[in-house]
Amino acid sequence: MVFYIHAFPERLHHPKESGLLFVALRACGDEAGPLLDRLDAEHSRGEAAVMRLAMDLIEVEQLGPARLESFAEGVERYVDAYLRHMEVEEREVLPLAERVLGDADWRRIVAAAPAPVGLGPALRCAS
Ligand SMILES: [Fe+2]
Repeated sequence: MVFYIHAFPERLHHPKESGLLFVALRACGDEAGPLLDRLDAEHSRGEAAVMRLAMDLIEVEQLGPARLESFAEGVERYVDAYLRHMEVEEREVLPLAERVLGDADWRRIVAAAPAPVGLGPALRCAS
């Protein structure tokens, strides 16, 4: 799960949100600037947060169950922050996008989204 979080949300999903959706929203006006700044900052801290989880997991594996409670607390903090982040995007950013983005913006976003959701290349599992 830690590998997945690093490989998909941190490396693929968040950069597309920041680099496509948020850029398009910023081009439509300053309405959401502070909110997008906050979400961009959360995106930029995400990889370090996942790396902390990975290191905490390695400690559990190498040092034993005494480290399990600390790892579980780290997971809880990460999940809580991630769910708050997603809730803000779903409650505020996506409705704003529906309201202000035009056809050209949506074509660009759909072209970048991987199939089958969008028209971009389907994601492949690393082997
Ligand atoms: Fe996000």
